[in-house]
Amino acid sequence: MSFFSREGLIYSIAVRSDRQNEGMGSMLMQEALRRLRRKTRKVWLQTRISNVKARTFFEKFGFKPVLRIKNYYGDEDGILLVSDLASPE
Ligand SMILES: CC(C)(COP(=O)(O)OP(=O)(O)OC[C@H]1O[C@@H](n2cnc3c(N)ncnc32)[C@H](O)[C@@H]1OP(=O)(O)O)[C@@H](O)C(=O)NCCC(=O)NCCS
Repeated sequence: MSFFSREGLIYSIAVRSDRQNEGMGSMLMQEALRRLRRKTRKVWLQTRISNVKARTFFEKFGFKPVLRIKNYYGDEDGILLVSDLASPE
């Protein structure tokens, strides 16, 4: 993650495939958001448009889709999501 012009960006988050759905992604996300809240109130991230699991996961943390980015991944569109970090998760 990084800070840019008082806004945060999460580049990527991943949990080993055989350990997914055990709550580790949520723990990582909570810690990332806790650190980001110290410096900013707005955080961006993106994922593949087809990544329903990640999109559902991010929406659980208050991220909302704002822009579809054509061919962002070369073979697929990306979706840009943003959260205003209104309240602690
Ligand atoms: C996204 C990712 C980080 C989540 O990590 P995780 O440890 O599996 O997440 P958790 O166990 O904390 O939470 C699981 C959540 O994922 C979502 N989810 C899991 N399976 C899902 C499915 N089949 N369909 C839709 N959403 C699903 C739900 O929001 C679920 O929360 P819930 O159990 O409260 O419903 C993990 O799936 C991952 O590493 N994916 C591959 C990399 C990736 O796509 N990263 C995001 C793009 S940068």
